[in-house]
Order: sequence, then structure tokens, then C-alpha cells
Amino acid sequence: MTALVEPRFAFGRNWTSFLGMLDDARIATATASLSTMLDRADLRGLRFLDVGCGSGLFSLAARRLGASVVSFDLDGDSVACARELRRRYFSEDPMWDIREGSALDESFFKSLGMFDVVYSWGVLHHTGAMWRALDLIRAPLRPGGRLCIAIYNDQGAWSRRWATIKRRFCSSPLWRAAIVGTFVPYWVLRGLAADVVWGRNPLRRYTEYRGGRGMSVWHDWIDWLGGYPFEFAKPEAIVAFMRALMKDEVAPTLASRVLTAVAVLHFDTGHAARAVPLCEEILRLDQAEGERRLTAIHLQVSGCILMEVGRSTEARTVLDQALAITTDLGDDRGCAWVELALADLDLRTGHWAAAKRKLTRTIETFERVADLQGIFEAHRSLGDLAIGQGRSAEAVTPLRRCLQIWENDLTGKLERARILARMAPAMAANGDTTTADTYRAECLCIVSDLGLDVDCLLLPPFVPFS
Ligand SMILES: C[S@@+](CC[C@H](N)C(=O)[O-])C[C@H]1O[C@@H](n2cnc3c(N)ncnc32)[C@H](O)[C@@H]1O
Repeated sequence: MTALVEPRFAFGRNWTSFLGMLDDARIATATASLSTMLDRADLRGLRFLDVGCGSGLFSLAARRLGASVVSFDLDGDSVACARELRRRYFSEDPMWDIREGSALDESFFKSLGMFDVVYSWGVLHHTGAMWRALDLIRAPLRPGGRLCIAIYNDQGAWSRRWATIKRRFCSSPLWRAAIVGTFVPYWVLRGLAADVVWGRNPLRRYTEYRGGRGMSVWHDWIDWLGGYPFEFAKPEAIVAFMRALMKDEVAPTLASRVLTAVAVLHFDTGHAARAVPLCEEILRLDQAEGERRLTAIHLQVSGCILMEVGRSTEARTVLDQALAITTDLGDDRGCAWVELALADLDLRTGHWAAAKRKLTRTIETFERVADLQGIFEAHRSLGDLAIGQGRSAEAVTPLRRCLQIWENDLTGKLERARILARMAPAMAANGDTTTADTYRAECLCIVSDLGLDVDCLLLPPFVPFS
């Protein structure tokens, strides 16, 4: 077994304190998040291994979804927390086994048997030997099983700075006090300032915080500030490492799906250039696999990424290939999505008439198959078309349709902001400056709320308002 890295953060103590505020709402959030991740509402008949179970909240969630669960953690206090949760909710349950053990102990892993789901959220980067832990964690996974891991992203110099802060946090009570006393007031004040500016109740960010997984803001802060040992890696490095280890066990389609998810993440966070080499790898894997529907989707994603980095000719070639496959498969909806991407390419390159023809066709298809996201995006592009042609007033009708679609959908906030950013100049062009000002203010408010830059709202050749 690998020797333990010191100093170490007392995760278990943090979890013990978290247990005091664990309620039904947090458990329900955790259960829903696990169910969403696994894309299943029912885990009956499955074996679930929770590696580094911490508070035991996700073992409890898996048990609630019906799985037979084995949980373990290195930290005795974490193990005690998981046992306390079992006592509260599944007392004397033979289908929930909780042990103390290490993710770096090969023989311990082997003693646990095989599992349908091996779950290790935010753990392997805290073991002190992340790559070895990634290697060992394959052992208990049944062929065809699911491995769910979360590893801190490599953010370059910032990740290295955080490693220093965390090591100091764990090295002495004085450093701990200094670090908590610096960062916590900073985060509190930053949140307060944003709430005051946007007229929100400043307490709500704490009372309603669930972190998407049922966590608490204070315990997440302490876990983040103190979580040491601390390692990190780029998602593509993890995929490459696992593929090299698992070879035939990782189907090319799985690898290409994961790489596509990473590419989309880069794209969505404004780093399309980083996604380009991934696209080449994805298409190579797809060629080997020959799964045509998947290939078409990946070609479409690659086309959009190439378009974003200004490689229009290559983007068109790739999108034309996607269109040929979807047409051949008789997939109307797939064709409409590819045509929408091609229309966006026409928009960017000033081929207005071609864009309009494609958009009209895609809207017809999306309306026929009731694809709301498609209807939304096609109308948004139609609005862009009018604005791009210098006929902003004509943008109002399609953009109004966009607003109607997501009117009651909170998750569509950013989409709403994107439309408002287009609506403001369009309304001004229509002579309605009061509405234009209202739209502009709401849009800036949403963007700031989401912690984004206003530049994220519009794609070239359109320039966002200042
Ligand atoms: C950030 S917590 C995550 C807890 C839990 N997985 C969750 O999602 O809430 C990290 C946990 O990993 C545990 N851990 C660290 N090194 C470990 C090791 N070598 N083996 C097992 N657990 C370990 C810590 O004790 C801690 O409870």
C-alpha cells in the first residue's frame, strides 16, 4: 500500500459537522443528482461502491434508489458519519455495508467483489497518489459497469497556488485561521455586493444553497480551502490515461463520447481552440467504430467548433458530411440540426439568402417534430439574420418567439439574456427606446448574476452593446 501523504485535511471532522444540518431536502437533492447522473431512477438489482464516501450522503442516495451499497473511506470520522446515516435511515440494513479502508490498497479493493457502479466523487485527487488510485479503481468494476469519478480540473498556475494554500491550511492552526479569515470574508462580501446591486435577499444564497448535490456552503468552503493532498488533471488527460489502461474495455464510442463532452465544455466556456485537437481524435475514433448516428452528431459538434475558430471551409466540409449521413438515415430532426449549423455558417460568412432558406426549412421541421430547443435556436438565428442585414426591426418577431419559448424556464436564463441582447438594439431601431433600455438592463443583470462576461452573449460578426 502507498504511504500516506502528510499533512492531510481532516475531512471526517468537516463531515461530522455537516451531518448536523443534513435534512430531507438535502437528501432529496443528492438523490436526484445521482439519479440524473446515472440516468436511472431505479438502481434495484445493482451493486454500488462508494469509494471515499465522506458523509455517506451518496451511499444513502444510492440505497434510496434501491442499490445494494458498499461504502468505505480512509478517515475514521467519515466512516462514523456514514454509519450514523445508516442508523438514521436504514437501520440494521444488510444491503448497506460500511468499512474503513483506502483507495490505494489493492488487496482491500479486491476483497470487496465486483460492482455495477463504482462512484468516487471528489476523492482520488485527495489520496496523495491520484494516478495510482485511478489505476486501482478499475478492479472492482464489472464489465459494462459505470465508473463515475470527479477530479479537479488543471487550471495551470491557479491550481498550483491552491495546492500551496491548502497545504498551509493543513500544516498549522495559525495558517488555517489566516486562510479562513481571508477567503471567507472575501467570498461573503463579494456575494453581498452582488446581492445588493441586483436587489436580492443576501441570505438566500446561504439558506437555499445546495451546490447541486445537497451540500452546505460553509462545509464546501472549508472542504475546498483545506482539501489536501490535492492533485488535478485535464479531463482529456484522464480519458487518455484510462484508455491506455483499459484498451479494449473502453469502447471507442465511449471514449469519443467522453471526448465530445470535454470538447463541448471547452466550446461552452469560450475555449473553442482547445477543442479542435479533440475533434480530430473524436472523428478518428468514430471512423474506427462505424456508428453512423453518433458520427453524424460528432461531425456536427466538430463543425460548430471549427466554425467558432474561424475555419469556415473545414467546418462546411464536416457539416456537409454530417448532413449526408442524417439524410441517408432518414433522420429529419438530425438533418434540421445540421442545417441550422450550416445556416449559422452562412450567417457568419454573409450568405444571407442561403441562410434564410435553410432557417425556413429547419423551422418547419422543428415545428413539425415539436423540438423546442430547435425552434428557439432557429428563430434566434433568424433574428441574427435580420440584424446582420441591418434590418433590426425585422428581428423583433422571431426574437419575440424565442422569449415566449423559455418564458417560465429558469434554466433558460442565459438564453433569455442572449435574446434580450439582440432585442435591445432591435427595439431601439423600432423607435421604442424605453423597452430597449429595460431589455438591456435585464440582460446585464442576468449575465452578472451568472458570473459571465457580456461578450458571451453574441457571436461574431455581431458585437455586443457596451
Ligand atoms: C471531498 S470528500 C468527498 C466525499 C464524498 N465522495 C462526496 O461526494 O461527498 C473526499 C473524501 O475522500 C476521502 N479519502 C481521501 N483519501 C482517501 C483514500 N486513500 N481512500 C479512501 N478515501 C479517501 C476523505 O477522507 C474524504 O472523506
